[in-house]
Amino acid sequence: MTQLDGTGRRAAAAAVKKPNRSRRLFWVDASFFALFLLVINVPMTGLTIHEWLGIAIAAVTITHLVQHGDWVASMFQRVLAATSFQNRVNYLMMIGLFIGFASIIVSGLLISQVALPFIGYTPSGGSFWLWLHLSSVGWVVALVAIHVAMNWKWIASTTERLVFAPMQRLGGGAS
Ligand code: HEM
Ligand code: HEM
Repeated sequence: MTQLDGTGRRAAAAAVKKPNRSRRLFWVDASFFALFLLVINVPMTGLTIHEWLGIAIAAVTITHLVQHGDWVASMFQRVLAATSFQNRVNYLMMIGLFIGFASIIVSGLLISQVALPFIGYTPSGGSFWLWLHLSSVGWVVALVAIHVAMNWKWIASTTERLVFAPMQRLGGGAS
């Protein structure tokens, strides 16, 4: 993680002490990213799969936030405290990400043509919700790209430890 303030350092230290936690974080993050790539590609998936994946990503978003509950809970205290410019930008970006995901998912549910009618509720839709859904996507994609880039060191080292190193050990064992 690039923005290691006090809490970030504690989280990194905790991740080293608790390998299962970093394993859980890694697989939730990887599923989140894979689902996100699919859900922004509606021509590839078609609308039915898009809507169910959109609902699945809502569950993954909540899981991701619960996993970082301590970070989120202390964010508002830290944003008021003396902190670096980079940390403040990071907090603003998290708020943007949260608002962005909430707007896309809520508006998506309100324009649903397949998933919600399937479970017995047909939303009335409306051009505002359609506009919100479509217009939020561009800046949310940009924020996700920045968020991933800011966590790149963690992603690279955890991928190496949990994916590539075991694959190399397997390869070595087989020869
Ligand atoms: C495709 C979407 C997303 C991906 C791939 C993603 C990925 C990541 C990764 C790789 C990390 C660092 C490793 C970890 O601690 O899990 C992280 C941390 C975090 N993410 Fe996300 N994330 C996404 C969306 C979001 C959203 C929508 C929020 C909501 C505001 C969010 C909030 C956080 C928070 C609070 C942290 C902890 C920050 C820290 O410890 O410095 N993420 N995310
Ligand atoms: C993070 C979650 C989501 C993202 C990133 C997302 C993204 C998108 C994108 C990019 C489109 C435009 C497709 C195109 O014009 O080719 C779209 C359309 C649509 N999405 Fe989502 N979506 C998400 C969640 C949802 C959810 C949860 C639902 C409903 C259950 C939903 C329902 C729809 C519908 C009905 C359309 C078609 C709108 C129309 O053109 O009439 N979306 N979405």
